[in-house]
Amino acid sequence: MREGQAAVIHRADYQPPAFWIDTVELCFDLDPAKTRVLNRMRLRRNPDVPVQPLRLDGEELNLARVLVGGQGTSFKLEGGQLVLENLPEGHEPFELEIFTTCAPAKNTKLMGLYVSNDSFFTQCEAEGFRRITYFLDRPDVMASYTVLLRADRRRYPVLLSNGNLVDQGELEDGRHYAKWVDPHRKPCYLFALVAGQLVCREQRIASRSGQEHLLQVYVRPGDLDKTEHAMNSLIDSVAWDEARFGLPLDLERFMIVATSDFNMGAMENKGLNIFNTKYVLASQSTATDTDYANIESVVGHEYFHNWTGNRVTCRDWFQLSLKEGLTVFRDQEFSQDLAGEASARAVKRIEDVRVLRTAQFPEDAGPMAHPVRPDQYLEINNFYTVTVYEKGAEVVRMMYTLVGRDGFRRGMQLYFQRHDGQAVTCDDFAQAIADANPGSKLAELLPQFKRWYSQAGTPRVQASARWDAAAGTYTLTLGQTCPPTPGQPVKEPVVIPVAYGLLDDQGRELASGLHVLTQASETLSFQGLQAEPVPSLLRGFSAPVVLEFDYGDAQLLALLAHDTDPFNRWEAAQRLALARALRFVAQPHEPVALDAPFVDAMRGILRHPTLDAAFKELVLTLPSETYIAEQLEVVDPPRIHAVREAMRQQLAQALQADWEWAWEAHQVGGAYRPDPVSSGRRALAGLALTHLCLAARASADPVWPGKAYQRFKDASNMTDRFNALSALVVSGHELARPALQRFHAMFKDEALVLDKWFALQAGAPDRGGNVLPAVRQLMQHPDFNIRNPNRARSLIFSYCSANPGAFHRPDAAGYVFWSERVMELDAINPQVAARLARALDRWNKLAEPLRGAAREAIARVAAKPDLSNDVREIVTRALA
Ligand code: ARG
Ligand code: ZN
Repeated sequence: MREGQAAVIHRADYQPPAFWIDTVELCFDLDPAKTRVLNRMRLRRNPDVPVQPLRLDGEELNLARVLVGGQGTSFKLEGGQLVLENLPEGHEPFELEIFTTCAPAKNTKLMGLYVSNDSFFTQCEAEGFRRITYFLDRPDVMASYTVLLRADRRRYPVLLSNGNLVDQGELEDGRHYAKWVDPHRKPCYLFALVAGQLVCREQRIASRSGQEHLLQVYVRPGDLDKTEHAMNSLIDSVAWDEARFGLPLDLERFMIVATSDFNMGAMENKGLNIFNTKYVLASQSTATDTDYANIESVVGHEYFHNWTGNRVTCRDWFQLSLKEGLTVFRDQEFSQDLAGEASARAVKRIEDVRVLRTAQFPEDAGPMAHPVRPDQYLEINNFYTVTVYEKGAEVVRMMYTLVGRDGFRRGMQLYFQRHDGQAVTCDDFAQAIADANPGSKLAELLPQFKRWYSQAGTPRVQASARWDAAAGTYTLTLGQTCPPTPGQPVKEPVVIPVAYGLLDDQGRELASGLHVLTQASETLSFQGLQAEPVPSLLRGFSAPVVLEFDYGDAQLLALLAHDTDPFNRWEAAQRLALARALRFVAQPHEPVALDAPFVDAMRGILRHPTLDAAFKELVLTLPSETYIAEQLEVVDPPRIHAVREAMRQQLAQALQADWEWAWEAHQVGGAYRPDPVSSGRRALAGLALTHLCLAARASADPVWPGKAYQRFKDASNMTDRFNALSALVVSGHELARPALQRFHAMFKDEALVLDKWFALQAGAPDRGGNVLPAVRQLMQHPDFNIRNPNRARSLIFSYCSANPGAFHRPDAAGYVFWSERVMELDAINPQVAARLARALDRWNKLAEPLRGAAREAIARVAAKPDLSNDVREIVTRALA
């Protein structure tokens, strides 16, 4: 280990804190260049831990003064920590005062206290509080907070912190103050403050019990008209948690504040959620249906953390999924419940599974593979991952499946009865759900079930069938394996709930149920059948596994036509398309030619009289390039891109008349509403328009590109406008250029819309290597700013992480661009840099010469001196 390099932290090394902090009084004199922070704490020794010095975490702080019981004291600074050895003996509380300063305007990492658009914001999770003051910066230390904010009144008229406003007033020299008291004890990662010129939409609500609450959404002046949807989502969230889980809002005031400079999506600070503007601001002219849906789910997510995360928090950061997996599960259920009908719920489920399979499965198969509850980390920020979040949510969902809806609610109640106000572990959660459901499969299998928390890698379920026609017996054998992952060469069988059905050739359901697979191999048999059934396995994606079953086309076509489970109906189409894509990829010298049965099946779905438009749109969207790549041992991204594009082109031409019908038939009239039905219709119309523009490319017929341009110009909402623009860009039509110009001119003052403009161009299909030069040119655009994470993501990530066909260039120029940007970003914002670094996670599977070139690019980054822990951890693991 080099000097100054941090060490790997291990879960097994957990020790309770040597001191408890009972109360914290913070006083801030806010100034962008030099903010003064006075931190007065009451501490006491933890009687369960041997006597030792107090070691407080700190980072980039200037220490001015330390007082113990009002007296000066000796201290040391060791590796960033403030170490106090001469503290009062015994277990009586004592007072510690620390006076520091920091420089928020220079804080480009956006962790701790920082400035954005001349306002102050904080981000403390996971370890940002130590950038504000010296503290025991760990989630199991919970304290009561009182916060006094002082700042210039004109420049910072709004002063916010957690809890309740108890006092405010004027000071000399044009300054003013506000005092906030949080009635709830909390870990420091939930601390927040905001100061600036902000305006708010507010709404008073009464809970079921009659309790009154004030809800507020704060934004910059000018954005107020874009806050209605966020406010409605918040009102829905409060009502939902009370109705579904009996969990009420425990605060008089609940605030959401939006900032355009934010590393992640949003943050659940107690009573003062801070959000990326992307998940707050929406108007029909600037936000798409997807944006509206994302706002609803992120507002829900942060609100639900108030119980799952804040009232009961994590003992240590290895337990992150305790709050994140559970809260993602809750926000998914919330969105499903608001979607209403079974078919709309299924659409949401399919979308969630698509995220899991295109982002989490690759993570679980690559160098960053880690268990839902990791065993070690160098930088905790690298573990805010799709594994901890989305796979963690699937683990909670399996518990839900095993104990049932009522059983799960009972389990949640027991969890809060036992642990309200505590910092606990994933084991505590699973134990509560199991204990509330004695006699359930979960209770019976709990130790084995918990392997889902400790084993990394995506399990594979191998299913095979035997049909004994003479006996009328159908036998299903289910096996499970899990590939090795870094540090875990051998895996034990896990508990896999397999929801299934058997269909006859008319599509009638002959049997259905839930089989809980626990062994390496098990057999199920079904008697008295007239003919060989078609198995519908893993319905609703009942477990986060890869299901291997040697389906024939006829079986998949039957499932696509008849399965009562909408998830497997969609999955059948994905399997049909995937099988074809893989065949074409493997035969580079054969033409990509789709067969009539497949094309007819797609037409059948598109024209289906009763299926929802949203569901049709999902079925008619081919598996992503990333998902196709995951099925292969050796990956040639440009080849996969070419195959998928060719398949799409054929669907465009073969179904042209059907796409025309779909476009005409799914126009949405009347006032804009982002509800599932209208959104689904717009999505399908948008998909149709893209295919019509693609078909026009082949025939050089200007009609549909002309219609797309017209729609782009007179659309009354961003969804239709952006879909039309995207159809032109994706089809590479010459009208794309004037449309892009016009779009920029129309929305030059709308940052979130400009993000879409950058992202669309960086994510465009590659034609002769044209995307990278365009991206490099856009880096020079006056609206580009690498310091703003949303903007960096919209241009750089859209190219490196979301456009594999364009990024993996045989001349390695994409990788050169990537390494330059990782190093450039690392000096500004290591968290964002480390995310970008993961674009080459799967380098080891690339076909040569890509593989060698990618390795070289990673090695170049790894060789840079002074890398952050964030990036160093990613590149070291990649090369291991
Ligand atoms: N707890 C937040 C959420 O999921 C995420 C905050 C992560 N921030 C970070 N810097 N790692 O709702
Ligand atoms: Zn969260």
